[in-house]
Amino acid sequence: MSDIYRPDPPRRDPDQETIPPDGRPYHEQPRWRRDFPIDWSQDDYVSRRDFTKFMVLISMSFTAGQFWILSLGMFGRRKDAPAEREIAAVDSLPVGKFLTFEYPDRYDSCVLIRLAEDRFVAYGQKCTHLSCAVVPKPETGQIHCPCHEGLFDLATGRPLAGPPRRPLPQVSLAIRGGKIYATGVKERIL
Ligand code: FES
Repeated sequence: MSDIYRPDPPRRDPDQETIPPDGRPYHEQPRWRRDFPIDWSQDDYVSRRDFTKFMVLISMSFTAGQFWILSLGMFGRRKDAPAEREIAAVDSLPVGKFLTFEYPDRYDSCVLIRLAEDRFVAYGQKCTHLSCAVVPKPETGQIHCPCHEGLFDLATGRPLAGPPRRPLPQVSLAIRGGKIYATGVKERIL
């Protein structure tokens, strides 16, 4: 059987030119290579470009997700500002003692501490490290987290020692008619 003359395809954009790995002309290449004339280098290039696109898309989705969570934290919380709630009668809590209560809902445990005759403070009970329940120790002037020995200041809720870096969320209080009311929660960064 005589060889059929197969002219080389017209030259196009050199960047699109296929270079066979064995260097022989195009018409001497096996059929499968003529059917799929893609250079390894071009193939890698396309893959890298696709991979970069993919990474950019993932990064953008991640960033959008972070903004979404941030906006939920800012606007969602404002929308659901907790209602005022009675915690206890002033006379029911002696100086140097504390009690626990739920605020703003029943899944949020808090502590109310009486520091002096006319001074009360209240904090969210979740440790700002990994959310263990903290325990006030009025006799030492500290609030203790038993999980990793974290310590907070009793009067301010600021971290003193151990892994926690942020203060405990502070519950705002109001005293009227011999009763103590929780009026809101302040998340604090420093
Ligand atoms: S959870 Fe409180 S110190 Fe780690």
